[in-house]
Amino acid sequence: MKMHRFEEIWLVLAAGVIILSMVVTGYQTFALGMGPPSNKETIDPQKVDETAPFDEPGVYQIGENEYEVVMTLQIFSFNPGDIEIPAGSTVHFTMTSKDVVHGFQVAGTNLNAMVMPGHIQKITQKFDKPGEYLVLCNEYCGSGHQLMSTTITVK
Ligand code: CUA
Repeated sequence: MKMHRFEEIWLVLAAGVIILSMVVTGYQTFALGMGPPSNKETIDPQKVDETAPFDEPGVYQIGENEYEVVMTLQIFSFNPGDIEIPAGSTVHFTMTSKDVVHGFQVAGTNLNAMVMPGHIQKITQKFDKPGEYLVLCNEYCGSGHQLMSTTITVK
């Protein structure tokens, strides 16, 4: 097969760019530890209600100004909802879904997580500023998706 000289050059350049970007991304992820935060714990999505800690969802104080929120997400609610915590608290969210993929986004913060059935999602946030924060599901999860919201009140 006879290829035009320019075609060869562009092929080599394009392949080079792809390989270079994979090498750079791989280096950042594995050598520099810059991969996205991810939690590898799994759970049987059929048995969420019987599996600790999700058998008792709620807000737990685990230290001075430190809380753990054990939360289940299901169509179309967050359990617990309407959370209240004191200003200056660090909150560790431990979440899972009982049915389909949901989102956990807290407006006004950079908290934004995908919560999948079968997986335990963990994410930590410090709440310094008092106020009412809107919590939204940002993954389309069914006919009531737009109703799936709650609040975190920091006071
Ligand atoms: Cu849950 Cu959208």
